Amino acid sequence: MTVPRIECRAIVKRLPSGSALLTILDTLDLAIEPGEFVAILGPSGSGKSTLLGLLAGLDRPTSGEIRIDGERIDTLDEDALALLRRRKVGFVFQSFQLLGNLTALENVLLPLELAGVASARDRARELLAAVGLGERGHHFPSQLSGGEQQRVALARAFAPRPAILFADEPTGNLDLATGARVLELLVELRSRENTTLVLVTHDREVARLADRRIHLRAGRIERIACGAAASA
Ligand SMILES: Nc1ncnc2c1ncn2[C@@H]1O[C@H](COP(=O)(O)OP(=O)(O)OP(=O)(O)O)[C@@H](O)[C@H]1O
Ligand SMILES: [Mg+2]
Repeated sequence: MTVPRIECRAIVKRLPSGSALLTILDTLDLAIEPGEFVAILGPSGSGKSTLLGLLAGLDRPTSGEIRIDGERIDTLDEDALALLRRRKVGFVFQSFQLLGNLTALENVLLPLELAGVASARDRARELLAAVGLGERGHHFPSQLSGGEQQRVALARAFAPRPAILFADEPTGNLDLATGARVLELLVELRSRENTTLVLVTHDREVARLADRRIHLRAGRIERIACGAAASA
């Protein structure tokens, strides 16, 4: 039996709301296999971003256990968590979060240099070319369109070869056609790099490509749909 890439058991997230405690995630169990593509769907406020933050070690559950490659992450200290994120995890956010004072190429290079990757520059160039921006490496984010910036963010996220990529509505700030192109690229890169992908999206067409679709409602898993060809 393989160890799940991500496993959570009975995770609960509660947050204070005035004098009461709000239950944001309610006793969630979930296992994601290495190389799996999982789409997270659900209405606004259902807990999608909260779940992603917990799985990525950006936040801690109130109770329950979360493991990545068999290692408990909910009990790690801040330094160990930072190391885990750097080694295993990539992110793509709704707002592209590129560094404005660095060029496209430098943005992609940065995580590679932080990780001490050999031939970082070649890898960064290769990734920029893979997202169709091979000629735009010297441009700053302000000189790129929204879709182009998000493509740079994709290149940056995949460059250090993370085992898992988390993406939270990565096309939420893009028009439909541009968003569709970015999502296509994301799915393409994920197959090429064999990355486990956990994608929060409202795009049912893209969700249909996922191995499983997890529907959240009010902090619980409402249903799970399997199979890339099934309807979302
Ligand atoms: N820091 C916080 N304090 C209190 N409540 C919070 C906090 N962060 C999130 N929430 C609440 O938790 C619930 C889930 O939020 P979350 O951001 O995970 O939803 P979501 O499914 O990602 O929604 P959306 O589709 O709008 O992004 C919401 O009701 C939200 O108001
Ligand atoms: Mg959200």
